Amino acid sequence: MANSEYEYVKREFEFDRRLPPSNWIVVRIDGCHFHRFSKIHAFEKPNDENALRLMYTCATAILEKFPDIVFAYGVSDEYSFVFREETEFYHRRESKILSLCVSYFTSVYVMKWKDFFPNKELKEPPYFDARAVCYPNLKTIHDYLAWRQVDCHINNQYNTCFWALVKSGKSEQAAQLALKGTFAKDKNELLAQQFQINYDDEPAIFRKGSSVCREKVETTVKIDDYGTPIKRSRLKVTVAHVDIIGPEFWENHQYILRESKFMHEFVKKFGIDRVLPPCNWIVVRISGCQFDQFSIIHSLDKPNDETALRLMSASASLMMEQYPDIVFGYGFSNEYSFVFHEKTELYQRQESLILSSCSSYFTSCYVTKWKEFFPHKELMQTPRFEAEALCYPKLKIICEYLSWRQAECHAGNQYNTCFWMLVKSGKSEAEAHEILKGTLSKDKNELLFQQFQMNYNNEPAMFRKGSCIYRRKVEELAEAEGGDNGTAREQWDVKVDHVDLGPGFWRKHPWIMTNCN
Ligand code: GTP
Ligand code: MG
Repeated sequence: MANSEYEYVKREFEFDRRLPPSNWIVVRIDGCHFHRFSKIHAFEKPNDENALRLMYTCATAILEKFPDIVFAYGVSDEYSFVFREETEFYHRRESKILSLCVSYFTSVYVMKWKDFFPNKELKEPPYFDARAVCYPNLKTIHDYLAWRQVDCHINNQYNTCFWALVKSGKSEQAAQLALKGTFAKDKNELLAQQFQINYDDEPAIFRKGSSVCREKVETTVKIDDYGTPIKRSRLKVTVAHVDIIGPEFWENHQYILRESKFMHEFVKKFGIDRVLPPCNWIVVRISGCQFDQFSIIHSLDKPNDETALRLMSASASLMMEQYPDIVFGYGFSNEYSFVFHEKTELYQRQESLILSSCSSYFTSCYVTKWKEFFPHKELMQTPRFEAEALCYPKLKIICEYLSWRQAECHAGNQYNTCFWMLVKSGKSEAEAHEILKGTLSKDKNELLFQQFQMNYNNEPAMFRKGSCIYRRKVEELAEAEGGDNGTAREQWDVKVDHVDLGPGFWRKHPWIMTNCN
């Protein structure tokens, strides 16, 4: 198909989850509202053999259709399909795998309905939901299947008792009550004594569910000239109602869940990275880990250490130089948010690479610049920063994000200012916390004013507003070569500001979010 100008909507927006390699993929489908479906089609209780045979016929059709499905196990209105460990069915794309299985199953169910219920009209379309689960090794896939069969056993034993009691004249409520808290052996006894039923003689299809797999069978391919049949063994999809909890079945069918051979190329498939969605602004927020401790060890001023904050902004400036796609930065305390332009193609937008390189570069700048900012303080502990990536599809939301961070800065700083004033005036830290508990912003301003004659609004803007960082145009007079005429050349520098990030700011600096270097 030719690439049109619109083709990007697929290339850039459609992401399919790929199920991890080297795992057995189980797709479990389950009938939707089959309680109702079985009622309106008057299924026999507790088990309708025709309904169960229709189910395994569908499962058989699926195994015949999709060679990568090696095993299926079903009970009641559910079926689990196991894909071989190394399947490349639709490149392991989850949505394809799920939808194809469930749709094919449903289709066969409807088409074959008449074969099993010749005298029953389908009154409504049956449908199923499906989920995919990955099991990484033989033990977990065996245990998964064992879990389903144990479930089959428990439910069937209960239902057998329940319906025997109801058919003998008990109300459904009374039957429920009679079975409450009973164990497996109590139920077997109840069946034996009250109804002369030996549970183990019940049909295996009810007790064990249905396992569908490929078995080697001998078939006659032709009769030779002497009348002797020529037989070939081939794999045929068959259904069995046997125990799959114990080891015996699996010992006799080792080929079904055999582990794949290790291939060198294969390891590459594990490197699946999340790609951040296109046309979204990306915020990388970096924040110091255990900075409480770090600031104590380096005796940083409380509540704000101006030099430490300037070191953060200096590191942020270097980030702006290193990553031209960062259009804006905002920081306070030990955190900095960097806004990447929506169109950035840094590392093809692979999350882990963006995160790790940003956090590493920032840390590196911080450590390198330390001596410059704290010439008399040895760096005693290695600072480290964690980073996360956030995606925002609209410019308006990015502005809201930044306002939110600034509100956090304000609230934190106002609290800390009060707290440390109280502590410095002789209160214990616990007392200071107690005093500030539940206070509103204006209460704190009043407290500062009345007890410490301090006007919070006169505190340094750097503390109250945090620091924003952006590029601005500066006209620079560049010397024309050999000539005397200076020519104005467009230059950009990085500016750090401590101002309100409201709509006024964005009106005044319209280029920030629109310019991409
Ligand atoms: P959802 O799966 O959540 O949509 O609900 P559901 O109504 O399908 O219930 P669920 O899957 O938990 O249980 C399956 C239900 O199907 C059982 O509770 C039964 O009511 C019904 N069912 C399944 N097989 C048979 C059968 O052979 N005979 C009868 N009478 N009912 C059956
Ligand atoms: Mg169901």
